[in-house]
Amino acid sequence: MDLGLKGKIALVTASSRGMGRAIAEGLAAEGCQVIICGRDKDNLLKAAQQIEAKTGQVITPIPVDLEQKESISQLLTGITNQFSTIDIVVNNVGGMP
Ligand SMILES: NC(=O)c1ccc[n+]([C@@H]2O[C@H](COP(=O)([O-])OP(=O)(O)OC[C@H]3O[C@@H](n4cnc5c(N)ncnc54)[C@H](OP(=O)(O)O)[C@@H]3O)[C@@H](O)[C@H]2O)c1
Repeated sequence: MDLGLKGKIALVTASSRGMGRAIAEGLAAEGCQVIICGRDKDNLLKAAQQIEAKTGQVITPIPVDLEQKESISQLLTGITNQFSTIDIVVNNVGGMP
């Protein structure tokens, strides 16, 4: 499918596994450069490598705990240091109580 997203930069939160990862993979398959994040660094790096191998797109893994303000600030700093803009944000973290 071509959704016209080629070259877009996408941030998908909570994306080292589950639905977030599937969304990240789908966006990468559409030609997006995707930033993925999660708390477990090893899982995150593994997910990034696997999505890159499958889609040929650059995947940027940034470890973050989205329940911690300081960690969210570090994520935003990491993004602004590496990218001039973000075209798509999928906020997949939150969950049920
Ligand atoms: N699956 C369903 O049927 C369903 C239904 C309704 C709503 N939802 C909601 O949809 C979201 C995704 O569900 P899922 O089933 O795909 O979840 P999942 O398979 O458990 O994956 C959760 C992802 O979120 C990351 N994560 C969790 N807490 C985080 C935090 N504090 N900071 C950063 N990353 C965090 C996990 O990585 P780390 O553990 O390494 O941080 C992982 O990558 C959740 O909010 C869930 O409550 C799911």
